[in-house]
Amino acid sequence: MADVLEVRGLYTSYGRVPMLRGVDLVIPKGQVCCVLGANGSGKTTLVKAILNMVKADRGSMFLEGENIDSWPTHKRVEQGVTLSAAAVGTFRKMTVDANLRMGAYHINNRKLLSQRLAEIYKLFPVLRERLNQKAGTLSGGERTMLAIARAVVNHPKLLILDEPSLGLAPIMVETVFAIIRFLCAGQMSILLVEQNAAKALSMASTGYVLQKGAIVFAGSVDALAASEHVRNPVI
Ligand SMILES: Nc1ncnc2c1ncn2[C@@H]1O[C@H](COP(=O)(O)OP(=O)(O)OP(=O)(O)O)[C@@H](O)[C@H]1O
Ligand SMILES: [Mg+2]
Repeated sequence: MADVLEVRGLYTSYGRVPMLRGVDLVIPKGQVCCVLGANGSGKTTLVKAILNMVKADRGSMFLEGENIDSWPTHKRVEQGVTLSAAAVGTFRKMTVDANLRMGAYHINNRKLLSQRLAEIYKLFPVLRERLNQKAGTLSGGERTMLAIARAVVNHPKLLILDEPSLGLAPIMVETVFAIIRFLCAGQMSILLVEQNAAKALSMASTGYVLQKGAIVFAGSVDALAASEHVRNPVI
């Protein structure tokens, strides 16, 4: 089966401090791949490196088999790698609708754009009810939905979700995961970074565990669920 993304031997550092240490990761097309790891283990650094928001010191990345090492962030986004994370944020002074249109800025075809927006509002009714509300006045959970919706509107080749359930009430967590499950059923390729290991494992096919910038587990979610990393996590 084709892989949407392949990361080989990735090293990054913050100043002189090494962070990622030889990360290898493969995301099969149409599947959910989860990355688990304690706070500070390098998960967000990894997703930022995939978008070239953090520079790689060494290593290579391939998008659908093509080497993307020289691609700047905007090119990676335009070519279908989309990140939805609290760190990326939404435009607080803009309305929900305007935020979604910003997310879809490179869809030039007006008919396609309105189709995509209709699809998003169907998937996220909470956003449809608030389409003219400024993003800055949304609740935390609603803003998380908006961040995901803004990424999904592009039908990305790879959707990267960094802690989508962070800080959400249980009912909102369920909604977010129901949406992820729906996207997954539609064969979207997803890289899911989650603190909530049980939830992540319930929908992923493959999983990785990061510890201090290095991959210490790579394999199927069944093997991951049975491993010490999940049974006795190192916090
Ligand atoms: N811009 C930066 N400059 C210096 N150090 C950084 C920077 N960004 C992150 N770090 C450090 O790199 C380490 C890994 O951070 P990262 O955000 O990747 O962890 P994480 O696994 O996503 O953690 P969390 O679960 O808390 O989100 C941390 O020790 C963090 O303090
Ligand atoms: Mg993080």
